[in-house]
Amino acid sequence: MDSKTQLTDGQMIYLFRHLMQHSLEGFVATSSDLETIILFSPSAESIFGVKSEDVIGTKVRDLYQDPDERDSIMGQLFKEGSVWYVTKFRKGKGTLEEHIIDISFNLTLIRDEEGEIIGTMGEVRDITRLNKLSYAKELLEKENKKYQKGIMNLLYSILDDFDPETANHSQRVSIYSEKIARKLGMTDEEIEQFYIKVFLHDIGKIKINKDKLVNGKTYLDGDEEVEHIRMHVEHGADLLTTSEMPEGVIEVARHHHERYDGKGHPDKLAGEDIPLAARIVAVADSYDSMVEIRLYKISMDKETAIEELKRCSGREFDEKKLFEHNKKALRNVIEKEIKYLMSSESVGNIKMIADMANEYISSVEKSDDTILGYDIISISSSWEQDITAKTMPNESREILLKSLDRISKSSEEFLGRRMQKELQFDPKIAGVFIEYLQSTENPLC
Ligand SMILES: [Fe+2]
Repeated sequence: MDSKTQLTDGQMIYLFRHLMQHSLEGFVATSSDLETIILFSPSAESIFGVKSEDVIGTKVRDLYQDPDERDSIMGQLFKEGSVWYVTKFRKGKGTLEEHIIDISFNLTLIRDEEGEIIGTMGEVRDITRLNKLSYAKELLEKENKKYQKGIMNLLYSILDDFDPETANHSQRVSIYSEKIARKLGMTDEEIEQFYIKVFLHDIGKIKINKDKLVNGKTYLDGDEEVEHIRMHVEHGADLLTTSEMPEGVIEVARHHHERYDGKGHPDKLAGEDIPLAARIVAVADSYDSMVEIRLYKISMDKETAIEELKRCSGREFDEKKLFEHNKKALRNVIEKEIKYLMSSESVGNIKMIADMANEYISSVEKSDDTILGYDIISISSSWEQDITAKTMPNESREILLKSLDRISKSSEEFLGRRMQKELQFDPKIAGVFIEYLQSTENPLC
């Protein structure tokens, strides 16, 4: 370093003075007793609201809101040589405007050339405004969360009032989806938004005729009703669009019934063209429909539902186990139908119904996975001919025929179509969920 670039002692003093005069940070120095103020810069004057001539020679501890705090800070200073601290001081001490401010300061020991302590130097900054801002932000965030929670609770109550099953289903699917999302690595913040998206997936059902969803309807009658209920995805997307919800929320409502193989609805999206959140909901939603008792469906146990998830995601599954379950489920459908017919006042011929029941049940017991329930379908059609030929009131005939039709449809569903492998779900998501289901006793906890 040549002499031109090396500062002289005089220049150093000048620079230090310049810094003292113009820095936004305040400087406060004490003498070798580490207490008495010997330097108080102009910025320190404006930060503490006192003139330097009024504080020079006084004790620095008196500036603190709690003067005893100075002792613990000094203890730390001796241990570490310097401390960075945030605490409260008095501004305008002794004046009418005296009030408390938040200060951040960096305190160091000053040593002479021999290493002797000759005082302390504190650089101080007023962070009251900054603290207020971050406090206000924190409050706002808390408030927003409260609103969000309130709106979710309100939505739950509205859904619950409309159809308790839809409300409970939405809640359960949200819990399952959250489990999957966490396993896929979503962060807490992402999960918060994701939960809302999932909770609203079936919101379109409020546009569906209420009696199609509940009120004693045992089964869906005909394609028209199925189509009507299917429309809930479009209704949901429309509702959320009108409400100016973010795109991600609308997407889940619209696409949660798409299938991974492109055979779903409403847009026949396939693979990863289906938004991730909608793919997650598709798996969680189906699982919930399988294990929960719906008015128009028979519920499965957890193990069978897992086999179904495997079957529908192209993963390995146990055909035998599924077949046995299907047999049991079909038997339940028939028993339920017969019970319904027996209790129906318009259907008088009890003997005929009892015969029908026996024939059906023994057929279910006999059937194996090669027959796949086709004999049940054929019994249905021979019974159909019998009923049509018999003399009975039209009303009774209609009830009997509808019942037969439902048994026959269930046979096809349980013992036929359901035995084929399908690619309805994203295999990765289904795999993650299956792993979760197998690892826990109660998947909703
Ligand atoms: Fe749905």
